[in-house]
Amino acid sequence: MTIRGASRLAAADVIVWASSLVPAAVLDGARADAVIHDSAVMTLEDVLGVYALDPGAAIVRLHSGDPSVYGAIQEQIDWCTLNRRDFEIVPGVSSVAAAAAALGRELTVPRLSQSVVLTRLAGRTAASMPDRESVAAFAAQGATMAIFLSAARPTELQEQLLAAGSGYSQESPAAIVIRASWPDERVIRTTVGQLAEALRQSEATMTALVLVGAVLGDNGPAPRSHLYSPSYAHTFRRRSSPGSTAGRPTRRQRGG
Ligand SMILES: C[S@@+](CC[C@H](N)C(=O)[O-])C[C@H]1O[C@@H](n2cnc3c(N)ncnc32)[C@H](O)[C@@H]1O
Repeated sequence: MTIRGASRLAAADVIVWASSLVPAAVLDGARADAVIHDSAVMTLEDVLGVYALDPGAAIVRLHSGDPSVYGAIQEQIDWCTLNRRDFEIVPGVSSVAAAAAALGRELTVPRLSQSVVLTRLAGRTAASMPDRESVAAFAAQGATMAIFLSAARPTELQEQLLAAGSGYSQESPAAIVIRASWPDERVIRTTVGQLAEALRQSEATMTALVLVGAVLGDNGPAPRSHLYSPSYAHTFRRRSSPGSTAGRPTRRQRGG
């Protein structure tokens, strides 16, 4: 959670939190007298009913990760707009970032992949999924892919990753990160060809993120990025020569 998220939680009169995706310990940061609702057992109408009940209250809807990714927040934004209720969206740390950290990997390594596809299998919500956005369609790019909400359908996921024209092979690296950033986080490294079996063995169906792509492999030292190359000038740094004093530490001035 970000500092801003923690401070909003600490100040909340009412909290609607997703118990299925957020560790209960996070609520330790709430006021003892805060009214707490669990969105896991609520419909959208139930949640909006809580928002409608007390327009003057400080209400926090506590989502998992970053709310812009499969957060179902657009319908809440629309309700707030329609009902002239002010709201603030506090960015969070998505499970894709937490999973990359758990794996100790950058997801965009020069020459291996410079793009990350965040997607999911269509599943029961197939009607929400535009045709051109199947996992198989994205697999053709061979870029880094983070697959949400799909651990319960291992065979279909592997088949789509290896569909005709895929940029991945059986040997392409893959990883499953279960409960990323939770105290009981688990990391399973595998290949696309072994992914379905690894998912089945993990017995994880929820709170599991699948990552696929060459950046997860054992690629030796990564080609260095342009950004910190001495020969690459940009807005904040001139091209530097050997012995240059650029980059000397500076102290931040405190107080007046
Ligand atoms: C409704 S989506 C919410 C995603 C969330 N907004 C985010 O930024 O991570 C739930 C899916 O996100 C992934 N997910 C959420 N939290 C996770 C965690 N701590 N570890 C691994 N995957 C997680 C899983 O794929 C899960 O099925």
